[in-house]
Amino acid sequence: MTERGGATHSKMEVKTSLLDNMIGVGDMVLLEPLNENSFIENLRKRFDHNEIYTYIGSVVISMNPYRSLPIFTPEKVEEYRNRNFYELSPHIYALADEAYRSLRDQDKDQCILITGESGAGKTEASKLVMSYVAAVCGKGQEVNKVKEQLLQSNPVLEAFGNAKTVRNDNSSRFGKYMDIEFDFKGDPLGGVISNYLLEKSRVCKQPRGERNFHIFYQLLSGASNDTLTKLKLDRDFSKYNYLSLDSATVNGLDDAASFRTVWNAMQIVGFMEDEVQSVLELVAAVLKLGNIEFKPESRVNGFDESRVKDKNDLKEMCELLGIEQSVLERAFSYRTVEAKMEKVSTTLNVAQAYYARDALAKNLYSRLFSWLVTRINESIKAQAKTRHKVMGVLDIYGFEIFEDNSFEQFIINYCNEKLQQIFIELTLREEQEEYIREGIEWTNIEYFNNAIICDLIENNQNGILAMLDEECLRPGTVTDDTFLDKLNTICAEHQHFESRLSKNSKFLTDHSLPHSCFRIQHYAGKVLYRVEGFVDKNNDLLYRDLSQAMYKATHSLMKQLFPEGNPAKVNLKRPPTAGFQFKASVGGLMRNLQTKNPNYIRCIKPNDKKAAHIFTESLVCHQVRYLGLMENVRVRRAGYAFRQSYESSLERYKMLCKQTWPHWRGAARDGVEVLLTDCSVPAEEFAYGRSKIFIRNPRTLFTLEERRRACLEDLATLIQKIYRGWRCRTQFLLLKKSQVVVAAWYRRYAQQKKYQKIKSATLVMQSFIRGWKARKILRQLKYEKRCKEAVTTIAAYWHGTQARRELRRLKEVARRKHAVAVIWAYWQGLQVRREYRKFFRANAGKKIYNFTIQRIMQKYFLGLKTTMPSMSPIDNTWPARPYMFLEGAHSELRRIFHFWRCKKYQGQFTEEKKAVYEEKLEASEIFKDKKALYPSSVSQPFKGDYLEIQKNPKYQKLNSAVEDKVLLADVVNKINRANGKGAPRLFLLTKNNFVLADQKTGQVKASVPLPDLTSVSVSTQSDGFFALKLKEGSASAAKGDFLLSSEHLIELITKLHRTGATAADRDQINIDISDEFLVQFNQDKVCVKFIQGGPKNGNSAACKRKNNRLLEVSVPSSP
Ligand SMILES: Nc1ncnc2c1ncn2[C@@H]1O[C@H](COP(=O)(O)OP(=O)(O)OP(=O)(O)O)[C@@H](O)[C@H]1O
Ligand SMILES: [Mg+2]
Repeated sequence: MTERGGATHSKMEVKTSLLDNMIGVGDMVLLEPLNENSFIENLRKRFDHNEIYTYIGSVVISMNPYRSLPIFTPEKVEEYRNRNFYELSPHIYALADEAYRSLRDQDKDQCILITGESGAGKTEASKLVMSYVAAVCGKGQEVNKVKEQLLQSNPVLEAFGNAKTVRNDNSSRFGKYMDIEFDFKGDPLGGVISNYLLEKSRVCKQPRGERNFHIFYQLLSGASNDTLTKLKLDRDFSKYNYLSLDSATVNGLDDAASFRTVWNAMQIVGFMEDEVQSVLELVAAVLKLGNIEFKPESRVNGFDESRVKDKNDLKEMCELLGIEQSVLERAFSYRTVEAKMEKVSTTLNVAQAYYARDALAKNLYSRLFSWLVTRINESIKAQAKTRHKVMGVLDIYGFEIFEDNSFEQFIINYCNEKLQQIFIELTLREEQEEYIREGIEWTNIEYFNNAIICDLIENNQNGILAMLDEECLRPGTVTDDTFLDKLNTICAEHQHFESRLSKNSKFLTDHSLPHSCFRIQHYAGKVLYRVEGFVDKNNDLLYRDLSQAMYKATHSLMKQLFPEGNPAKVNLKRPPTAGFQFKASVGGLMRNLQTKNPNYIRCIKPNDKKAAHIFTESLVCHQVRYLGLMENVRVRRAGYAFRQSYESSLERYKMLCKQTWPHWRGAARDGVEVLLTDCSVPAEEFAYGRSKIFIRNPRTLFTLEERRRACLEDLATLIQKIYRGWRCRTQFLLLKKSQVVVAAWYRRYAQQKKYQKIKSATLVMQSFIRGWKARKILRQLKYEKRCKEAVTTIAAYWHGTQARRELRRLKEVARRKHAVAVIWAYWQGLQVRREYRKFFRANAGKKIYNFTIQRIMQKYFLGLKTTMPSMSPIDNTWPARPYMFLEGAHSELRRIFHFWRCKKYQGQFTEEKKAVYEEKLEASEIFKDKKALYPSSVSQPFKGDYLEIQKNPKYQKLNSAVEDKVLLADVVNKINRANGKGAPRLFLLTKNNFVLADQKTGQVKASVPLPDLTSVSVSTQSDGFFALKLKEGSASAAKGDFLLSSEHLIELITKLHRTGATAADRDQINIDISDEFLVQFNQDKVCVKFIQGGPKNGNSAACKRKNNRLLEVSVPSSP
């Protein structure tokens, strides 16, 4: 056994082996004892445990589980990826991985041969292999597209090439070989599909319980109404003769859904819309063809001639294919035979017409199928021209042994015979190569060589196929019986040929061998073939008239499908027979397979009920036999049953010997040698190859395995022991450490608690003691304080008592003294009165009273003389009165004194001063309590001439212009009538008039005689504004009244008042004091209004023209 592949695993990865946890034995090579029973028992045991795969060396036996098992998941793919073949339990993925890796890494083309009987799971196995390879190979947009196309070719081919049979609901009715091509990296590039021998007879007739090809049912169930109308089809299966009705629907098959799947798959693979349409048209045409029926029409010569019964189906079929109806109709009635440049037309009877119809239907369908394969190949073919690596997958029917075996079974079994041959050849070759490679002596292996059987069938001179061809081509009457006769003559002596009538008389009495049959001893068993139909099937005749009619069709595919119908290329040579074609293609296939490294999957079905969990021993036994599996095992273990590389061998068994355990330092081979010697394995049981150890008997291996298992148990115990010890120790140390930590923490916590308790207790005691001490001191202090207070109180009481006693005593003394004095006075008075009574007159009392009063008055006046106040009339002081009874006299004296003092003061005045005072008095009369400016003017003397006009030379001219004496000269402000601003003017007042002059030049501006002055208006406030109102109509009043302001307003107005009245000879001039008065300016009367302004205006009043009729003077409010 070879340790194939070389994936290196990381050191951490656990090395496993097929030998681990085996159910039965995973590899039949290790079966002990080896016989059919143990073989089948092993299969059953494994099957019962859901182990559907078992190896025979590198061959995989696959049992059909008939249910889905959880062993095809992506996780499983990962598990088997890049693992050695014998490393894990047997699986189809292990084989696929092995094949893929040797293709990719060792550049060896591979083929995977899947055989088994119908329903054994070949097609499923091939799909598993393909899906595994698709999962593990490279990824990328382009690669994925190729993968998808390769995978999607399956549903298309299955729809057209698979059918429900009694053995399998999805039986492949054709052989399929697919080459998948890879580039150097192992990425798929494309593929080529070859198909073998489609079971075309199914198109026209299906055995009981079976169906026609899936596509017919899928089309009728799944196509839209629209499509069906276009194809002139009806959804009802019963309308079609070619469709068997009893099993038209299959459990678990949804034809409508499958139709959509197929449709999608065709799109993915790359079929054009019109191509799909054409294909469906042909399918429809086949159905229509089946419905064409014939009736006999008698002819003059007495023979019947066939005529189409109901031409409707014929017409529709012709429309679908674009054939002229009459051409086809004729082809069903006549047959043209050409021989030696002569054309002879013979009529067809009804049976012949039906034969022709069915032959056409079968040919049409099988050629359509081949065209589909070609078309798919076109899509999936590898684009790159570089050299490809190839993996071929062969899914082909296995040996078929029915009750009635015909031509088909014969050639199928021939194919399997060839496959067996190549299997043995390749296995032995590989085996031999390995022995040579490993330098082990090659012992000849006894095995059954089936070359003799192959020769019986395929020999070009006297092989059965050659004779059949010969018989078919022979002129004269040829029947199946003449063919059997021929066989009986020629193959009589062949060991593997048996026939009742053969020249070999030993079968004459064999009743299991009917007359029209022959039997062949295949490597897998004897098979009885009925010769009926051999010749016809081999001929596979399609009348030339039909092929020519087809060639004339306008349908796009027909010319490609029936090239032989081309009249330009009439070929009189007969077309190759079916047998010949098949032999050729099998030959081609074998040559192809021979160049590749083979991988075998042998499929077995456990029962023929298509049911899970049932293992029918006889059925399995039968398959084991004709698959030649026992032979397989025998060949595999002919020399040495088991082999393993030194490294893995040492790795697996090193624990069995002290020198190699746990590590062997030397070369692996030496290690194995030491190990085997130490285990005392007999020398004939093994041989040392270059890189592998070869073990002759499985028993030896099992002994080693057994010892290893026991050893592993010990080791496991040891490891367990050490591990447990380590774990307990670690656990203990951890616990100890934790305990210390916990204890430390706890102690700390307890001490903390204790400390806190003591501390709080101390504090309590402390506070109690302090409290107690404090209270003691407090008590002491309080006592002392109370003592002091008591002393003080006692002392106070004592002093009080003392004082009161003293007071009482003093009062007593005083009272006594007073009493003594009173008594003394009374006594004295009594004494005096007694003494002086004789001297007193009767009115002496009045005289004493008067005298006393005189004395008091005298004293009052004399005292007044010294306390007299000053002579100033404004001195308000006056001495207080000494006696109440002098009240009236005292105030009268004060009044008299004040008058006297005022008279004295007046007497001192000059004339001038008198005038001044008169003026002041007048001012007082005019303004007192009327104008706020007045009080401030009282203390100011009226000066009159403020400009000193006579002395000042500047006013010389002005002075001369004024005739009379100037009573008042001052600078006043003349208020501009337009804007209220002031301009300085000189104001002169004489006894007759007043003058206004320019301040700088002294030029007279206005001279107004006083009689023209009617009244003067001033405000009540502290401003100096005044308006001089002139008599209306007088000359001076032409320009209107004057509005002026002066700093000496009181003086000015007073003087004006006195002088103006005298000059005008009237009582007085009107002085109007109010805060709002009218002034005549030119023609307008303007109201002058005084308001109290804020101090912000400064100290002087400001005049402002508000509008035409209002001049507003804001006067600072008096502080
Ligand atoms: N590995 C599997 N797991 C589950 N079911 C399986 C498996 N292999 C096969 N089957 C079941 O068995 C049926 C038949 O399998 P398949 O079509 O592969 O047989 P076959 O050998 O190709 O037969 P035929 O020769 O008639 O084509 C499948 O339809 C499926 O139901
Ligand atoms: Mg199949």
